[in-house]
Amino acid sequence: MPEGVEQGVPGALRRSTPHIGEEVILKAWILTKQAPIEERSLSLVELPNPSAGDREIRIKVSYSGICRTDIHIAEGDLPLMKSPIILGHEVVGIVDQVGEEITQFQVGERVGAYWLHSACGQCKYCLSSRENYCPAFQATGWHADGGFAEYMIVPEGFALSLETVRLEPGKIPPLLCPGIAGYAAFKLAEIESGEILGLYGFGPTAYYVLKIAQSLSIETYVSTRSTRNLERARREGAVWVADASKTEMPAKLDAAILFPPAGNLVEPILSQVKAGGCLVMAPVSTSTIAIEQYSASLWGRTIKTLYQLRRTEAKEFIALVNDLDLQPGVTLFPFEELDEALILTKQNKLEQANAVITVRTK
Ligand SMILES: NC(=O)c1ccc[n+]([C@@H]2O[C@H](COP(=O)([O-])OP(=O)(O)OC[C@H]3O[C@@H](n4cnc5c(N)ncnc54)[C@H](OP(=O)(O)O)[C@@H]3O)[C@@H](O)[C@H]2O)c1
Ligand SMILES: [Zn+2]
Ligand SMILES: [Zn+2]
Repeated sequence: MPEGVEQGVPGALRRSTPHIGEEVILKAWILTKQAPIEERSLSLVELPNPSAGDREIRIKVSYSGICRTDIHIAEGDLPLMKSPIILGHEVVGIVDQVGEEITQFQVGERVGAYWLHSACGQCKYCLSSRENYCPAFQATGWHADGGFAEYMIVPEGFALSLETVRLEPGKIPPLLCPGIAGYAAFKLAEIESGEILGLYGFGPTAYYVLKIAQSLSIETYVSTRSTRNLERARREGAVWVADASKTEMPAKLDAAILFPPAGNLVEPILSQVKAGGCLVMAPVSTSTIAIEQYSASLWGRTIKTLYQLRRTEAKEFIALVNDLDLQPGVTLFPFEELDEALILTKQNKLEQANAVITVRTK
């Protein structure tokens, strides 16, 4: 038995080398009970390897990125939608099995899975390419098993071809959550060449927005607090970098994007945005938002929220990445060290901005 592999869910097989006529297994990290990540509540187990249904593909996972949302699910900030669940929604791998009705993908092709696992395909939102609002929206690694496993199943319509992406595969996972979310937030801001965009917080997602904005000659001001993020934003070429709560920005903004879940920043940001502009809020939850000065702060501005992700933005962003000067900072961990990588991510102790698990290099 491989070191570190524990007893799986009832009925799971426990052999590491399948023999002819026996069920094929996969190794996967599962979550059955929500608890602080420091308690190492995920277990590495062996499970029967699922086969692709008619309209599904099976991915042999190569690399899987860690997102803070994985920690929110593991710790109980978000409810458990399936138990046990395999977390992970920044998945890069190779198609190893296709269902009977699959036409878009072939065995051997490099593909990715991201937060959008599936949607109904029939509601008014799905029919207008806004499946992020579909009432039947299912998320990878939350409603459906994700990528902290050797294999995973993805419905054909929701897998992303990565064949054209020129980055090394180990650097692609962060593109699939912070990258797509950053692109979607940028589009919501409706900002154009020559205008000024403000980014509040400079974590993994803001990095992609800065790179997209630079490629379109949009001036970007970054407000962040930590020395590390201030230095990163300067190094990446933001036009103005400081903590806006201490140093005033040199000009008003055409649009702003807020990343941290800090409701207290909303009014100061809005008062920095010109009338006609908008504030895009990226967080999935925030502390209380209070607006005291309606006329000075909110009147004439729009607040938009980034709500889940859609296929259109995912495909557009992937088509764009070779034209952006991207160097996603990645700290790689062996598959067996996922629990350690989650702890370091939570405690902000990673050397690079993103943690990625190497599941298989071939
Ligand atoms: N809506 C969706 O569907 C969707 C999809 C993907 C991601 N997201 C959201 O997008 C957001 C961006 O993710 P991320 O991981 O890139 O961001 P993040 O690391 O959570 O936050 C960005 C930065 O904001 C700063 N910050 C944190 N708390 C702060 C506070 N109280 N006041 C001021 N600044 C603070 C930190 O930098 P400093 O310490 O340097 O200030 C932090 O690095 C997350 O909130 C995530 O939930 C949403
Ligand atoms: Zn994510
Ligand atoms: Zn729908």
